[in-house]
Amino acid sequence: MSNDSTKKSILEADGLYHVYESKAEDGNVVALRGLYINMKEGEAVAVVGPSGSGKSTLLKCLGGLMKPSAGSVTLDENNMTRLKGKELVRLRQKTVSFIFQDGNLLPHLNARDNVAEPLRNQGVRSKEALKRADEMLERLSMPHRARALPMMLSGGEQQRVAIARALITNPRLILADEPTGALDPVTGRAVLDIFKELNEKEGVSFLIVTHSKEVAAFANRSLELRDGRFVAEHGAEIDVEDLTEGRELLIDDLGTVTLPPDLLVRIGGSGRYSVAVAESGMLTLQGESYSTIGELVLSATCPACKHDYGDSDEQECPSCGSSRPMVEASS
Ligand SMILES: Nc1ncnc2c1ncn2[C@@H]1O[C@H](COP(=O)(O)OP(=O)(O)OP(=O)(O)O)[C@@H](O)[C@H]1O
Ligand SMILES: [Mg+2]
Repeated sequence: MSNDSTKKSILEADGLYHVYESKAEDGNVVALRGLYINMKEGEAVAVVGPSGSGKSTLLKCLGGLMKPSAGSVTLDENNMTRLKGKELVRLRQKTVSFIFQDGNLLPHLNARDNVAEPLRNQGVRSKEALKRADEMLERLSMPHRARALPMMLSGGEQQRVAIARALITNPRLILADEPTGALDPVTGRAVLDIFKELNEKEGVSFLIVTHSKEVAAFANRSLELRDGRFVAEHGAEIDVEDLTEGRELLIDDLGTVTLPPDLLVRIGGSGRYSVAVAESGMLTLQGESYSTIGELVLSATCPACKHDYGDSDEQECPSCGSSRPMVEASS
């Protein structure tokens, strides 16, 4: 079973914080606010959440591409936050591959050289690396474009090259940021079939950021990220367009629970609640002094970049992508 607690962890993070420091007037951005995650070998996990909630930041911190401001990341039972230089590179190379939101190919190398590059970095001879690159491009229905430079490829083709590059090293874990976002539905499904096959037959683990129903349905579970915190977990039947259904709230080891914004609005908003029932597996709260329903409204300006929403009821800031918070009406 994929959730078996005795199974080996492929990826763990604890107390993960990330702050983008800025000298600009609007100051620092806290992108991750104390995340915990434990992925078992062979699991497929999706991360869902609005634009600006920290999904890409999380992936980069988990894969060792960016050092988190605080907290630890353990990859294949090695604490990455303690490793440096060559050791870190070696651990990454043999365990994990990335698929970025925007292909992220080397612009001066053609498709097959881009795909072969990670193998060459591992010391595989160039001829052998190119042969395997051609096979992988074939698997992704891209052999005819093998000699094209990235700038000559469409967005979807670049994405397929990036996927081929990620798969070529036979990684045990794939971290993917909207991997099918740039693909048409048919190609997207073909890529997902490859992921499924790798997951089911070879036990490759996946952590995938996605807005796609199909991709989320492939995952064993989905974590809902809001403003840098995991607020809930969803099972395999997640509806990415309506996260209010079927979610389970998460309480961490410190006892922290963060309510999804829509749920906070439903219970009446922030304030004081007394504990009516607290027993094993059960907690009921009784509102005592809270801002009543109707007093919470969408914030008029973006707290991150000060964008003025005017009359719009957008949920995400069009200029910086942060999710729009609910605030108390000034009446
Ligand atoms: N290099 C950076 N410098 C400063 N702030 C950043 C940087 N990258 C991201 N941010 C901010 O950190 C927050 C999280 O960004 P992130 O890119 O992780 O969001 P996301 O969930 O991946 O969004 P999207 O769905 O649009 O890709 C946002 O408020 C964003 O503006
Ligand atoms: Mg992103």
